[in-house]
Amino acid sequence: MKSVTRTQVGIIGAGPAGLLLSHLLCIAGIDSVVVVESRSRAEMESTIRAGVLEQGTMDLLDSAGVGARMHAEGAVHHGIALAFEGERRRIDLTGLTGRAITVYAQHEVIKDLVAAREAAGVLPVFEVTDTRIEDMDTEKPVVRYVRDGVDGALVCDYVVGCDGFHGPSRQTIPVQAREEFERVYPFGWFGILVEAPPSSEELMYARHDRGFALVSTRSPGIQRMYFQCGPSESVESGRTRKIWEELHTRLDSIDGWKIIKGKIFQKNIVGMRSFVCATMRYGRLLLAGDAAHIVPPTGAKGLNLAVNNLRLLAKAFAELYTTGSQERLLSYSHNALRRVWRPEHFSWWITTMLHNFDNATPFHQRLLVAQLDYLTTSEAGARVLSENYLGPLTH
Ligand code: FAD
Ligand code: DHB
Repeated sequence: MKSVTRTQVGIIGAGPAGLLLSHLLCIAGIDSVVVVESRSRAEMESTIRAGVLEQGTMDLLDSAGVGARMHAEGAVHHGIALAFEGERRRIDLTGLTGRAITVYAQHEVIKDLVAAREAAGVLPVFEVTDTRIEDMDTEKPVVRYVRDGVDGALVCDYVVGCDGFHGPSRQTIPVQAREEFERVYPFGWFGILVEAPPSSEELMYARHDRGFALVSTRSPGIQRMYFQCGPSESVESGRTRKIWEELHTRLDSIDGWKIIKGKIFQKNIVGMRSFVCATMRYGRLLLAGDAAHIVPPTGAKGLNLAVNNLRLLAKAFAELYTTGSQERLLSYSHNALRRVWRPEHFSWWITTMLHNFDNATPFHQRLLVAQLDYLTTSEAGARVLSENYLGPLTH
């Protein structure tokens, strides 16, 4: 059996990038969009990942009509704290820039977007396997997949690969046409969700000789925390006592601050990588989000970067289907990449500043502390940090 569908835009991956793009295209009047996704809806709606949304991301979700729950349930933060050498120093994000961040979990954004797709009567095709792209250098690229044992084919005008770092889209581009830049960090993050009220009202990024720690929130009764761990650590190795020991060691020395403990009900490990594929279009295949670029999570940029891509893509497709002009699609890779390297640099910089590298000399450690000291005492320094953390003002 075979199922063949003709569609204008075929999207691979129903993460935040694929779902938001299909929603934006639908708003622009492009109804013929199909999203295929390898995971189940339940898994997508429960996988814990990002938390911080930039103002620009919130504005786009609002203008797309999917921001109501984010405003009702997300928490607006006007500052963050950097903790080092036993002190906690606040960066007044809003005072310095007039902008703020919202902490609202990525899987809640996913639920909002899936609900919007459902309301429009066009849910993604979940639980596909064997996804592959053919003929992307022709005028009718094809996405092939298998669902419930049936071969499926999407015959498209364009294919957008929103299938994350490990998805097949980027790999489909011939190696000789792909320019890639990569830095893999020699550590990861151990993340936990804890049933307890916030230990810190604002996000706290802490540097300690034992390694980095981050105290974030999810809701008045749930905290999100991370600490730097070895690159090959596993969730199983994180016994409850060891997790609290690590967090106490890194955080207890902070003046007048106390960690609030509670029941740990979820653990995960996050790898750390910087990556850019400097070819975001090949023929009629376009890449967006983590499929094209990865940042280490310290700067809280990944999802926000994906949103920057989608803004460009939605405009480009709207132009194509209203005027017939392919100009914006042809310049998409160039324009998207121009917006990628600043957050790539920021994410690398803040990661380097806050983590412990095994090979760092005492001299290097002192330099990093001097830099943190400068960023938290000079208004100019704090402004540089704030502007980068909050992301671009206009797009
Ligand atoms: P993904 O979310 O990876 O989605 C890709 C989708 O494609 C997946 O659903 C996958 O199942 C699907 N797929 C893969 N292969 C196939 C296939 N063969 N066929 C069909 N479908 C396929 N970003 C921020 O902006 N702020 C933060 O605070 C932040 N914190 C983070 C904290 C952590 C711990 C982590 C891990 C990440 C964080 N990020 C943050 C990054 C953010 O989560 C990602 O950048 C974001 O998920 C990228 O979205 P995406 O849609 O491009 O890719
Ligand atoms: C969260 C994740 C981040 O990567 C970050 O920099 C801040 C907060 C979070 O999951 O809450």
